[in-house]
Amino acid sequence: MSKLLWKPGTMIYPLPAVMVTCGAEPSEYNIITISWTGTICTDPAMCYISVRPSRHSYEIIKKNGEFVINLTTKELAYATDWCGVKSGKKHNKFEETGLTPVPASKVKAPLIKESPVNIECIVKEVKELGSHHMFIADVVAINADERYIDKKTGLFRLSDAEPICYSHGIYYLTGNRIGKFGFSVEKKKKRKN
Ligand SMILES: Cc1cc2nc3c(=O)[nH]c(=O)nc-3n(C[C@H](O)[C@H](O)[C@H](O)COP(=O)(O)O)c2cc1C
Repeated sequence: MSKLLWKPGTMIYPLPAVMVTCGAEPSEYNIITISWTGTICTDPAMCYISVRPSRHSYEIIKKNGEFVINLTTKELAYATDWCGVKSGKKHNKFEETGLTPVPASKVKAPLIKESPVNIECIVKEVKELGSHHMFIADVVAINADERYIDKKTGLFRLSDAEPICYSHGIYYLTGNRIGKFGFSVEKKKKRKN
């Protein structure tokens, strides 16, 4: 078997499929589904989203210089896809999905109440790359749903929210744990014979 050589394209998968909220006031609120997103720095906490200028959300994010990344779950999968195929030009996405906008702490864009984690972002730089423009942003606050705090350990258990990911056109449910950070170098417990 040999490798097929394809022309350059977008093949880094799996990726998140997040719902990004924007808008400074309720009449402007919108939700756009984004997969071109990721963390780019730990300290200061920074991330990016890449958006096509033709999207309704593009001008809103550019004008206001802020947005919120809302993580998605199995329960939110339908709304995630819907917000990624319908435009705010024609639809009020909060009303039509039934998702609830709630105030953020540091930005005017709303959080999606039903999302387990909402990441408030302030745009630092816009890179006009080509088909997509990259909004490089500072993370200014994180909102984590109390429901997923383990009462015994106090740790946040994102896996309990049943996060989803996106891989080459398909949504997948995450969940089969196969290791934890550093497991490859952990010392094996000595066996008692
Ligand atoms: C899973 C998924 C991922 C997407 N990722 C992106 C993305 O990273 N950037 C982008 O500009 N559009 C992306 N889209 C397309 C937009 O979400 C879609 O065009 C949406 O209708 C735009 O909404 P708006 O016009 O209300 O802003 C994605 C769609 C889906 C379904």
